[in-house]
Amino acid sequence: MSLALELTYLGHSAFYIESGPFFALIDPFIKGNPKCPWTLDHIQHLTHIFVTHGHGDHIGDTLALAKKFDALVISNFEIANYLSQQGIRTHAMHVGGRRSFDFGTVKLTPALHGSSIQTPEGPRDGGSPCGFLLTIGPHTLYHAGDTGLTMDMQLLKEDQVTLAMVPIGGNYTMDAHDAKRSVSFIAPKKVIPMHYDTFDLIKADPHAFKAQVEAENPEVEVLVVTPGQVLSL
Ligand code: NI
Ligand code: MN
Repeated sequence: MSLALELTYLGHSAFYIESGPFFALIDPFIKGNPKCPWTLDHIQHLTHIFVTHGHGDHIGDTLALAKKFDALVISNFEIANYLSQQGIRTHAMHVGGRRSFDFGTVKLTPALHGSSIQTPEGPRDGGSPCGFLLTIGPHTLYHAGDTGLTMDMQLLKEDQVTLAMVPIGGNYTMDAHDAKRSVSFIAPKKVIPMHYDTFDLIKADPHAFKAQVEAENPEVEVLVVTPGQVLSL
């Protein structure tokens, strides 16, 4: 199956992916995301949602969107358990686990971070945070989630990642310097920097990141993507 894949960056760590009958959001922080050009009504089709961890800027609008579209949420066991209690269809996985779905394969990768969920009843354990390695037709996408630099990222080199989405904003995650080191570990074909400039604490210069990564890794292309921009892969 070699379907075309379209990817729209929605600011922060949120992405919308379309490939044939597969319509997915990763970390759908739409309402309240100052960088997101879309409202919830913008989304017309949605079959799957991927949630890297429980923090509000990642779980975002998962509940409302999953309910509206009856979309399947793929996340760790604790987040899936929480959402299924709200009547959402979920598929629980955990870090290191891989599974085939009708659209491709999913593997949860380690992330160095927290994952508590803010609920109306107070904070709730959101399990271990993760990233996603998604193989869809000829495309292997790695969304790192929120994470610090890890040695584990070196293992991704063997997966021949075609597009890596890595945080560069610092403070809560890798900054641009460590993100550049992660790119050397992962050796993807293309990289999109994410999780920067949404808030004052995570200001970063994606163009400086691009220049430094491409100087050290001539075979890697960094795509500085404006929120709302659609990439055809
Ligand atoms: Ni977080
Ligand atoms: Mn975050």
